Amino acid sequence: MTKLNKWTKHHILSLADFTPSEYETVLQTAASLRSVLFSRTKKVPTLQGKIVANLFFEPSTRTRSSFELAAKSLSADILNFAPGSSSLSKGETILDTAKTYLSMGANVMVIRHQQAGVPEAIAAEMDKLNSGVSILNAGDGLHQHPSQGLLDLFTMCSALDEQNPRLELLKGKKIAIVGDILHSRVARSNIYSLTAAGAEVHLAGPPTLLPQLFGEILDRNQGGKLFLHWQIEPALENADLVMTLRLQKERMSDYLLPSLREYHQNYGITRKRLQLCKEDVKILHPGPVNRGVEISSDVMDDPEMSLISEQVTSGVAIRMALLYLIGTTKL
Ligand code: CP
Repeated sequence: MTKLNKWTKHHILSLADFTPSEYETVLQTAASLRSVLFSRTKKVPTLQGKIVANLFFEPSTRTRSSFELAAKSLSADILNFAPGSSSLSKGETILDTAKTYLSMGANVMVIRHQQAGVPEAIAAEMDKLNSGVSILNAGDGLHQHPSQGLLDLFTMCSALDEQNPRLELLKGKKIAIVGDILHSRVARSNIYSLTAAGAEVHLAGPPTLLPQLFGEILDRNQGGKLFLHWQIEPALENADLVMTLRLQKERMSDYLLPSLREYHQNYGITRKRLQLCKEDVKILHPGPVNRGVEISSDVMDDPEMSLISEQVTSGVAIRMALLYLIGTTKL
């Protein structure tokens, strides 16, 4: 078992710099905090007096709400920012928005933005000001979505051992990630966590959404545990776990795909295709889902096979763990 070290991360911006010990700490913390969600009061006083600001410059259902619920479960106060009704429309900059929340006493800022690097830029500014504020990246452009990568890891490990989710459970497992890899910050985060756990990660998608160069660049640091396929079948063969990704139409030009129908025919996760996988294969999707495009509705709604609802529940436990770790550790 990996020895756990003292938590040393002040910001959580990417999984690229996570160590095995840090993954284990997050998994163990989430496993112990998960019980709070099922208790009568659904609350512990751990972060009483702390303020968490949810700064979501891009739409979100799961991530924003689960960070809010996680903060409330730890008794933190939460400030929610909605860009449409904010002073951004009057010309206020993102950094000035963040500084405004700093002046209100925010201790943690959870930031989602359509441009890669915004959470990092705000973290640098907060450090320059010696503010003590921690930044949690809740998804930035095509770059990273670390809390999603951690909740996916937690969901997979919990499916194999609910009481003691840990990295070694994924060692040697074949995990297929299928779909729009090019636009996926979720895939970029998962590649780090799953290869760190010792899994074989098989990426599959059409060449326009899975450029060869992308895989080659990533694989340089992943110890040869990453495989690229332009057909879905080799990725699914004997897979233990399959994650399918949303086609991010809002980030695509019209030239990347012939049609959604053809995409579903070639890369959609269907019951028939899943016969290629291990008999007890489990399916994940970070959401939101285009039903009938990347996954058929009957697979998505099959409680024996689908871990999609578990991912949402895991998301709250993981975000509680992250807020707990950065909110209670004196660095
Ligand atoms: N998976 C995910 O990030 O979902 P939301 O966009 O709803 O937060």
